[in-house]
Amino acid sequence: MTNLQRLRDALCSADCAAMLITAPASIRWLTGFSGSFGAVLVAANAEYFLTDSRYTIQAAEQVADLPTRSFKSPQKFEEFLTDIVREAGLSQLAFDQNHVTVGSLAKWQKAMPTVELVPANDPIEQLREIKSADEIARIRSACQLTDDALTLLLDKTRPGVKEIELFWTLEDFLRPHGATLAFDPIIVSGPRTARPHGEPSDRPIERGDFVTFDIGARLDGYCSDITRTVVVGPASDRQREVYEHLLKAQVACIEAMKPGAKGRVVDSLARTILDEKGLAQYFGHGLGHGLGALVHDSGRLSQTVDHDIQAGQVWTIEPGVYIDGFGGMRIEDDIVITESGNEVLTGFPKHLIELPC
Ligand code: GLY
Ligand code: MN
Repeated sequence: MTNLQRLRDALCSADCAAMLITAPASIRWLTGFSGSFGAVLVAANAEYFLTDSRYTIQAAEQVADLPTRSFKSPQKFEEFLTDIVREAGLSQLAFDQNHVTVGSLAKWQKAMPTVELVPANDPIEQLREIKSADEIARIRSACQLTDDALTLLLDKTRPGVKEIELFWTLEDFLRPHGATLAFDPIIVSGPRTARPHGEPSDRPIERGDFVTFDIGARLDGYCSDITRTVVVGPASDRQREVYEHLLKAQVACIEAMKPGAKGRVVDSLARTILDEKGLAQYFGHGLGHGLGALVHDSGRLSQTVDHDIQAGQVWTIEPGVYIDGFGGMRIEDDIVITESGNEVLTGFPKHLIELPC
């Protein structure tokens, strides 16, 4: 079944007669179009890929399943959309409430005052959670590339090197491999490791520091997201104790991830294990998130999420402990759920690495 057919079925089950899909990751999943401006209108008697003149040639190459309609300046998108909606005789149009801005919506409503614009969730977000074999292969390649990047980064990590220099090393490594950063990398050292999302700074690394690398590559449209924390030189007893307990929690959570498991329960497992050593209070974020075309793809593993885990989903598992004044650490792997359990796609070792210095 094509992705377009899967979308039609989802709209039919939701009793939605016409929808405008606008999120770039959904557009790419549906059509293969990789440009920055496109939309797909799906209605019973009108299905089009919509773009503007900057992308007409690209759309002819990439969009096979749908006819393309494109507009050019001085026409505005809302005028173009209004013409198409009128032509199709639509009195109602659902739109992606998590993507369309209030400003765009106001312009659309002004241009077509008699059409009811209905806020809805993009059904593709949920469809995209279950990955095809091809998508999993692409995520696997991105994971392998970040494993290699970590090897290089650890090789360069020594006292005196600045966090920001390691960021540049990562950028330089990814580009010739055809990849880009999947997100702003988190590379922090020493006390700065207590910031779960710290930005790489000018701080030179010191002997005895924890260094956390949270990095991801986007390769062929799909992302990886891996975190490792290492120590520069021999670890102190406390560093080792906390790290090993975090690792115990992370390994147990990966083991618990299988079809039918609940995100809420697996998230609680991490907190229960961390609490054996009074560490759960230092774990302030959720256990993980869906991964795919976006680094934070649809799906969260947290206390508030009750959905069943399903085969074909790809998740990060990333518990962390962040203690202001002492430092922090996170261990993150990417896994794909299989019929019987899961497969870990990131392969970098996760015992506590003590870098020679
Ligand atoms: N890798 C960053 C995050 O998951 O938020
Ligand atoms: Mn992550």
